[in-house]
Amino acid sequence: MNQEKVIVLDFGGQYNQLIARRVRECNVYCEVHSCQLSVERIREMSPKGIIFTGGPDSVYLEESPRCSREIFDLGIPVLGICYGSQIMAHLLGGAVKTAPVSEYGKTETNVDTSCTLFKNVSGSTICWMSHTDYIERPPEGFRITAHTQDCPVAAMECTQRNLYAVQFHPEVMHTTEGQKMLSNFVHDICGCAGQWKMDSFVETAIREIRERAGNGKVLCALSGGVDSSVAAVLLSKAVGKQLTCVFVDHGLLRKDEGDEVEAVFGPEGPYDLNFIRVNAQERFYKKLAGVEEPEQKRRIIGEEFIRVFEEEAKKIGAVDYLVQGTIYPDVIESGLGKSAVIKSHHNVGGLPDHVDFKEIIEPLRLLFKDEVRRAGRELGIPEHLVSRQPFPGPGLGIRIIGEVTAEKVKIVQDADAVYREEIAKAGLADSISQYFAALTNMRSVGVMGDDRTYDYAVVLRAVTTSDFMTAECANIPFEVLQRVMNRIVNEVKGVNRVLYDLTSKPPGTIEFE
Ligand code: XMP
Repeated sequence: MNQEKVIVLDFGGQYNQLIARRVRECNVYCEVHSCQLSVERIREMSPKGIIFTGGPDSVYLEESPRCSREIFDLGIPVLGICYGSQIMAHLLGGAVKTAPVSEYGKTETNVDTSCTLFKNVSGSTICWMSHTDYIERPPEGFRITAHTQDCPVAAMECTQRNLYAVQFHPEVMHTTEGQKMLSNFVHDICGCAGQWKMDSFVETAIREIRERAGNGKVLCALSGGVDSSVAAVLLSKAVGKQLTCVFVDHGLLRKDEGDEVEAVFGPEGPYDLNFIRVNAQERFYKKLAGVEEPEQKRRIIGEEFIRVFEEEAKKIGAVDYLVQGTIYPDVIESGLGKSAVIKSHHNVGGLPDHVDFKEIIEPLRLLFKDEVRRAGRELGIPEHLVSRQPFPGPGLGIRIIGEVTAEKVKIVQDADAVYREEIAKAGLADSISQYFAALTNMRSVGVMGDDRTYDYAVVLRAVTTSDFMTAECANIPFEVLQRVMNRIVNEVKGVNRVLYDLTSKPPGTIEFE
């Protein structure tokens, strides 16, 4: 395929996909590869530019990840970020050492605005730093183009060889003019025209799925959430009636959600899909009885899910592929990369040993949530589905602290429905990224009329975030919270207290589990 592309070489940092996503935001196709990608392979791909990511290691240690030195002789522009800048300096004869002062966080940086990388950037700008090593001396032929109080080489360049390096992270939002710098790199330095659009992703994905699936039968795990809906529609466009979508109602969905999903994807809905609804509530409740530990709940729900699919697959006969709507944040948070396991998402990495499918197709694996929504719009999926807030695969199973029972599910469903209704009425739905009610495992004394109660506390969660990797508690007007509280304690049996969770992510997570 002859489209212009930039490749990101991964040295083990945590923002690798974020860099790719920022480049895609410049309308240039971008994908991430291992830092050990061979020079021959890079030549074949003929990218317009190469970006080296950050990473946790020290370049001067033997075992640290490194790329081939020949990359610098390809004539392709290279931008090194953080560890990537240090490996460039190290391989080309500069000096990298432990810095006398480590920098972490937003840092005032003085940049030389005459260089192309910093075109239209302010002379003094805020950049996000996170490093303990630094470039003490750039390689021969390089000139320093930025510095901070503690970092003498915050950026360097060798324009003759098209090599650029920054110690800070232009890809994170805390670097206020970072997107401008990346845009300068891909457009002005690499010469990309920037004509790539999300529909190119959709077209490419449809073509690749078609090639991969051939005449095989495909089974899609449809939950009705944004990710699996986009995956399902993408698949139906690629393989038509070879696809069967199975929707498992595990009894852990939001109020009335099962029927809503059926209304959209079932035979009465607008899509030409094979749709099967499996009502497996009792089966899941039985497996979850007595289980309190959140990771164990996730595992049980995930495994049971796969079992149900296996059974459906057997009924359909000779199913070759299982489709899942896994997106990028699921992948890193499940610890499949280098980062620590925060929690296991049931649709990633948690497959049981015995799986009756040839392969798993995850077409959205490299996309962030808002990119998935954009792909959904390109596919013509109705806006109310595309902008729907995320809902975890294990559902209310992880929004109920402690043991999951049918009674607790009903409480959290009813409280959540009230909360959502009031948020919508207050006109706040679009300004909050995700909001829901969860059930604490705490019961406490209250008073209702003349009676003493001993009931559960519901917790309300609401966050704003752009990428779901970090999040802030949403600032919901107090009157709205009070209205929600009043309605929940009055309308939902078994609840006598309502709490509001103020925690950001980190240190919390978005879910309350
Ligand atoms: P956390 O709680 O990890 O949530 O901060 C980040 C985002 O991921 C969603 N989430 C999940 N999505 N399967 C999913 O498909 C899961 O197991 C899962 N767990 C959390 C969560 O709702 C939030 O949007």
